[in-house]
Amino acid sequence: MKCIEIAQPGPAEGLVLAERPDPTPGPDEVVIEVMAAGVNRPDVLQRLGVYPPPPGASDIPGLEVAGRIVALGADVVGWQEGAPVCALVAGGGYAERCVAPAATLLPWPEGYDAVQAAALPETVFTVWSNVFERGALAPGETLLVHGGTSGIGTMAIQLAKAFGAQVAITAGSDEKCAFCRDLGADLAVNYKTDDFVDAVKAFTNGDGADVILDMVGGDYVARNMKCLAVGGRHVTIAFLNGAKANINLATLMINRQTLTGSTLRAREIAFKAAIAGQVSRLVWPLLAAGRVRPVIDSTYPLASAAEAHRRMESSAHMGKIVLTP
Ligand SMILES: NC(=O)c1ccc[n+]([C@@H]2O[C@H](COP(=O)([O-])OP(=O)(O)OC[C@H]3O[C@@H](n4cnc5c(N)ncnc54)[C@H](OP(=O)(O)O)[C@@H]3O)[C@@H](O)[C@H]2O)c1
Repeated sequence: MKCIEIAQPGPAEGLVLAERPDPTPGPDEVVIEVMAAGVNRPDVLQRLGVYPPPPGASDIPGLEVAGRIVALGADVVGWQEGAPVCALVAGGGYAERCVAPAATLLPWPEGYDAVQAAALPETVFTVWSNVFERGALAPGETLLVHGGTSGIGTMAIQLAKAFGAQVAITAGSDEKCAFCRDLGADLAVNYKTDDFVDAVKAFTNGDGADVILDMVGGDYVARNMKCLAVGGRHVTIAFLNGAKANINLATLMINRQTLTGSTLRAREIAFKAAIAGQVSRLVWPLLAAGRVRPVIDSTYPLASAAEAHRRMESSAHMGKIVLTP
């Protein structure tokens, strides 16, 4: 099969088209003929050499795929060859064939094509487990999401709205802010021209956001805590501006705030399977009904993976970038 290898950690040119033997499934796995594979920021970090695959995962980048099942492991029940599926994988997505744990498979939502289905697993699983589980966002509460136009951000806005929350976002241009408002954001702050702390406090009548989904880290953590409500939950999923934060513990104590975070890729299959069960029940019907949709920025052929990464690193994109083997 054709696949993308990281020949040289560093710039996008290090992604090269290669030939490898077709993968075979373990007893609880399936092989998917990949029709589309989502590109995610963690893939860029892996290419840069700062986010290695967890033990046992393929060294081929790619954390989510959609396609048809072409081989089933001996113990797999409930799935048939030929079934259109999408899957969260710990690696191996940038390829014509990809092994996936059967427990994390989901069907394409009704009316979806492969590109749309491939854009779902990483964002839906991440938003579900961090905003709704760790963050415990409840109807009527306010969510603040940084990076509103990111793949994660576009899904977080829509899911939070669908479950009855108010949503504030930050983004790096007025165009991006308008895009997020169209997706349902109630407040969109261009962080290059306005202070998000003041804007979120004003929007919440001084109370602050109940949940903050943060991918920026660094000095954002202390600023987030200034506009996080009493009892608020701050969920870190990345630290694009740095892993170290200097925070005021008095703010944490007086306002009884919770700082938490997680990373999905290295979690055990049983955890991912549990999330798959929940999103299948609670999110897939919203997708099929068109109340929530993946936002597709652009698609690239597999061989142009480097170009896809350059677009992601430019941060010019809005929504998901997808490869089509
Ligand atoms: N913990 C987990 O389990 C998990 C899972 C998946 C993804 N993630 C993380 O979630 C984040 C979003 O992922 P994604 O694939 O949706 O990414 P993405 O589409 O590339 O979006 C990242 C966005 O972050 C904004 N940004 C803010 N500060 C930035 C900085 N210093 N450098 C670059 N961009 C910056 C940019 O928008 P502006 O132009 O508006 O600033 C950019 O569009 C990534 O950091 C990723 O690593 C975590």
